[in-house]
This record gives sequence, C-alpha cells and structure tokens, in this order.
Amino acid sequence: MDKIRIRGGRPLKGQIRISGAKNAALPLMAACLLTDETLTLSNLPHLADITTLANLLVQHGVDLHMNGATDGGHTGRVLEMTARDITSTRAPYDLVRKMRASVLVLGPLLARFGEAQVSLPGGCAIGTRPVDLHLTALELLGAEIEIKEGYIYAKAPNGLHGAEITFSKVSVGATENLLMAACLAKGTTRLMNSAREPEITDLAECLVKMGAKIEGIGSDTLVVEGVERLGGADHSVVPDRIEAGTYAIAAAITNGELELLGARTEHLGAVIEILTKAGVEVTETDEGLRVRRLNGELTGVDVMTEPFPGFPTDLQAQTMALMSAADGAAMITESIFENRFMHVPELTRMGANVNVHGASAMVRGQKKLTGAEVMATDLRASVSLVLAGLAAEGETMLNRVYHLDRGYERVEEKLAACGADIERIKGP
Ligand code: EPZ
Repeated sequence: MDKIRIRGGRPLKGQIRISGAKNAALPLMAACLLTDETLTLSNLPHLADITTLANLLVQHGVDLHMNGATDGGHTGRVLEMTARDITSTRAPYDLVRKMRASVLVLGPLLARFGEAQVSLPGGCAIGTRPVDLHLTALELLGAEIEIKEGYIYAKAPNGLHGAEITFSKVSVGATENLLMAACLAKGTTRLMNSAREPEITDLAECLVKMGAKIEGIGSDTLVVEGVERLGGADHSVVPDRIEAGTYAIAAAITNGELELLGARTEHLGAVIEILTKAGVEVTETDEGLRVRRLNGELTGVDVMTEPFPGFPTDLQAQTMALMSAADGAAMITESIFENRFMHVPELTRMGANVNVHGASAMVRGQKKLTGAEVMATDLRASVSLVLAGLAAEGETMLNRVYHLDRGYERVEEKLAACGADIERIKGP
C-alpha cells in the first residue's frame, strides 16, 4: 500500500488548478442510464471512485470511451457513455460496497427500464448512512420496493408517475436519485426540501441539456415535468468546491499564498466567511480565488456543518486541522453525520488538542503541530492529516493513502508544485 511522506513547515506559494468535482461527476455518470444516446462528460477527475462507477456502468452494459487520459490528468478526462444495450439492471454488492454513490443508478434504471436491483451499500466509517429517503420517495413515484437478501428490489411495471415529495431530511443523494427518476416519470413531480448543493445544480443543468424539464434549479423546490425520453448531451463537470476549500486551507495553515484556478466564490460562501473570520484573505482573481493569511496568527472560529449554502461537512476535518494550529479555541459541530470525528485521534497524535462531546469538538489551538506516523479512515480525514503535516514540524507519514486517492487528484503533485516537501512512497 502506498504511503505519503511530508516534511512540514514550508509556506505554499503558486497556483493550483481545481479539478472537476467527484461528487458532481458521479451522479452525472449515473444519468447516462436515462438515455440510449451518448452522454459526453468533460473535465472528469482521475479518481478511484470514478473508476468504480465506470466499472458498475460497464457491468450494466453501458458502452464507455475514455479520452484525454494520456496527460496524467492535467486537463481532466472526457468520458463518452452510451447506455443503448443495457444487459443488466442489477448493481451487485461487490461493486456497490466499494462506493455508496453506486446507489445513484437506482433512480435512472427504474425510471427507464421499470426495474432495478441494487445492493444496499452497507457500513461506512462516517455514519450509518441509510437510503430510506431515496426508497420512500421512489415509492411515492409509484415504485414497488422490497428489501431481500441485502438488495433493494425495485419495480415499476407501469412506469413511474409524478408526485409531491417533501424530504423529511435534506439529502444530496436522495435529491439526485429522485431528480433523475422524475425526468422520465409521467406528469409533474415536486421535490420539496431538496438539497441545493452546486453538484445538484450541475446535474440538473446537464439533465436539461438532455431534454429534461426542470424548474427551480438551485432552490430547495425542484419541479420536474416528466418527458417521454431524454437524449444525449455534452457537459463539463463543475470545479470541485471541496478540493478548492481544502487547498484554501492549505494556503492558510502554511502561511502561504495560493491562487486556486477555477474556484468559485458562489460555491464557497460559508467557507470564505469562516476563513475571513480566522484571519485569512480570500480575493477573486480573473481565473479563480487567491488565498493568503492576512497577517500574523490564525484566530479560532466556531464552525457548524450544514447543508448547502451552509458550511460543508466535507470540509469539517480540514477545518479542524486549521483550527488546531490557530490562536485560541474553536467549537466545531458536525450536524450531518453522526460519526465524522475519526480524524481526531490522529490529529491528536500530531499535537492537536481536541475534545469531542457528542456532535461537537472543542479545538484548542496549539503553537506547534508535530509530524507523526498517522492513518486515516476516510477521504476527508486523510486530507486533514496531509494539511496538518504541511504545517507540522518534522516528518509525517500518512498510511492508507487509498482513501485520499478516492477524491483528490494528483494531490502530492499539486502540493509539491507549490513548494511542499511531499512524496508518495509506492507500496508493494
Ligand atoms: C453526499 O453524500 C456526498 N457524496 C458526501 O460526500 C457528502 O458528505 C454528503 O452528500 C453531505 O454533503 C456524494 O455526493 C457522492 P446525504 P450522500 O444523503 O448523498 C442522512 C465525500 O467525502 N440520510 O446528503 O450520501 C445521512 O445518513 C462524501 O466526498 C438518511 O438518513 O449524503 C446523513 O446523515 C462523503 N437517509 C444525511 O442524511 C437517506 O436516505 C445527509 O446525507 C439518505 C441520507
């Protein structure tokens, strides 16, 4: 297994090109199942999760062509997907357990073929993460759903029909699954209390290019007028706001200055607000955002994760690394997932002072973090350890790098180009 070695203490300086968003690309790829024509996605990141979903789509019979893969990922890949001859509507456990987002094939398969069998995803390091909201809402569209032998068996022999759906909790995945299914349902569907993440807007915009009729894009009420069929489209994946936020924190924690090419203010409002309060300056440039510490110390700031436009849970661990190096205390509250503090014991090994009480963590900033051998349990936890390592005195060795490779493209290359002393050590 690969490891990453970091020797900390160098301020990062330079430009980082933000890749296409993993969490936008995954639902966009699932959307290819809604049509027999070709959906072409550009600016696709090179990530393990993208390969996992590509393998699942191939298993369903989707014809895939990946272009632009020869430059090591510097420009993003172009993926052509044609779901003309679907040979299986079953998403098997072996593939789904590798990545929960595989459940996003459920809505499109059911809507277009009237049936789907999708393995329940199983456990996850950050919380129980059930899919009940997806299933209850699909039932309101007329699906018959049974859970047997660890699989979701869904049928809609007479097709899906429009309905009024109010999600009892804001869910990114449930909103995406239902949005895709509703595009091919008969009549009008209103999705209320929908998630509003930029990745959902990106999906909705692509579906509109494919011929879907969707109103309220970007709001918490999506109104979908079902159509008979959807067609092909060309779509460029939105830049990854979580990757951008992570590198903004890298600039702040190392007392450096980075220009994040492609980063968008409108996707990072709550993050910029917290960074500004912490003493970090974020300014717009022609091509993205420039981030640098204003002067002197970082200040501890309280943070609470919330659905968009609130502060993203996917930046909570990274923010904890930042607050660990700030002057003063910060209360970090995780309101989305019940077990997303797995990075705390590892950050503590690097000298952070963090006490967890239920959904909140009290972080008391330290003058100095120190390098250590650490390991991570999920994607964002891993990158928080990279950030702490960049600021720490001495050497940090990060184990279980495969978590990082699920969501950060060429992370060590991007950081090294800005002056970080970081290298990947290839495992057996
Ligand atoms: C998406 O997961 C992201 N994944 C996650 O990114 C992100 O953390 C999360 O949204 C929240 O922003 C992708 O987009 C592929 P949810 P998703 O449904 O859709 C509960 C990362 O690091 N819930 O919005 O699975 C759930 O347990 C990842 O890139 C139900 O109770 O998240 C959670 O507490 C990790 N029942 C909350 O809702 C359901 O049926 C929000 O989950 C569905 C969700």
